[in-house]
Amino acid sequence: MRIAMIGSGYVGLVSGACLSEFGHTVICVDKAEDKIAALKQGQIPIFEPGLDEIVAANVKGGRLAFGTDLGEAVRDADAVFIGVGTPSRRGDGHADLTYVFAAAEEIARALTGYTVVVTKSTVPVGTSRQVEAIIRKVNPAADFDMASNPEFLREGSAIEDFRRPDRVVVGCDTERARGVMREVYRPLYLNETPIVFTTRESSELIKYAANAFLATKITFINEMASLCEKVGGDVQDVARGIGLDGRIGGKFLHAGPGYGGSCFPKDTLALVKTARDAGAPTRLVEAVVAVNDQRKHAMAEKIKTAFGGVAGKTIAVLGLTFKPNTDDMRDSPSLTILPALQSAGATIRAYDPEGTREAAKLLNLTFCGDAYEALEGADGVVILTEWNEFRALDFARVKTALKTPLMVDLRNIYRPSQMAAEGFRYVSVGRSDAAPGTVVDMPQRRSESN
Ligand code: UDX
Repeated sequence: MRIAMIGSGYVGLVSGACLSEFGHTVICVDKAEDKIAALKQGQIPIFEPGLDEIVAANVKGGRLAFGTDLGEAVRDADAVFIGVGTPSRRGDGHADLTYVFAAAEEIARALTGYTVVVTKSTVPVGTSRQVEAIIRKVNPAADFDMASNPEFLREGSAIEDFRRPDRVVVGCDTERARGVMREVYRPLYLNETPIVFTTRESSELIKYAANAFLATKITFINEMASLCEKVGGDVQDVARGIGLDGRIGGKFLHAGPGYGGSCFPKDTLALVKTARDAGAPTRLVEAVVAVNDQRKHAMAEKIKTAFGGVAGKTIAVLGLTFKPNTDDMRDSPSLTILPALQSAGATIRAYDPEGTREAAKLLNLTFCGDAYEALEGADGVVILTEWNEFRALDFARVKTALKTPLMVDLRNIYRPSQMAAEGFRYVSVGRSDAAPGTVVDMPQRRSESN
């Protein structure tokens, strides 16, 4: 099967590379000539574990190529995936479909033979039909069907998510298109991945509904964390206690500083707008958006309280990206929390394993080469992102480097009892600061975060 992937950003690149690994012949196209030139040299523009190996192996195997000529890629393709960006439109929060529609026009002019045109980018309900209308208008003779095939890739584990998804969702109206899409995902039939065939509208909505539901789960547990702090509970035990109910499920119940990233903030906002325009407002999702925004400010206040005020103080910050294993800073809680601390008079020394280059464009603070350098002479440390390398800090070194042994851990990577024993004043999320930690008598207690 020959596949053209239009857009070589995060979604396009990961999807294109993984589809070539399935054995298809894939050309990833992008208008950015410098990006394509770099990819041709084997340079991957994003940090995603395992992506460089897959790209290198499939380029070598002749199944993956990069180019700037959309027409050439589309002409021979059996399936054309649109994986261009859909940022939030400035001002109103709607998804900006300029790039999607521009790609549709170009695709229309290049189509030859029967082709399935697939929207892979996250697009509002109805977009697939709009793309279809554009293609029909530009090229009335084109022989094509449309399909919607949203991605559910998590940054940092996108390759694994693509290879072993919980499900694949495909919206299309004809058996012929279903046949092509079955062929695209044939390797997944071997490990019995459910493929949900539905209408294009349902498929488009599934993506938004999934992200809004996950964002709701996180926001719910964050509110429970705040309540635990007031009434003396332990949010991790609350999460475990409710998560073991199969109807609730234990994943995405890890309390923290609020969700960020390229998807949840943008998609929840877009869903709210779509629903309002449709006259069926999603009041629950509206509340989630507002509570999550507020949470980031509340975290700045929590830090200020822990430090007894931050004016004139130096704060070491570990982790800047919205989550570990990515260099992505989009909507990271650090972008709200750190400027708030700086406005209150704090000096920030920060370290992030992969995010420094992106963070330096957005934050004006001292960037350090490793965790211990960031800690040097600081009045305390704040853990903002749960990178693995922060999970096993050398406490003796930490205490020597810090002026006072204060740790604010917004990801709950340590246990209060352990930190108290190590001689730290330890402030975490949804747990009593100095409590010994609740013992839950459960065989094979598993991590239930994400
Ligand atoms: C998400 C969806 O998971 C993915 O299916 C979709 O395609 C894109 O959006 P991603 O943004 O890469 O993926 O990260 P994810 O792991 O879902 O985390 C999103 C945010 O939620 C992060 O800021 C993370 O720290 C936060 N989070 C996640 C929590 O605070 N608690 C949790 O239990 C899980």
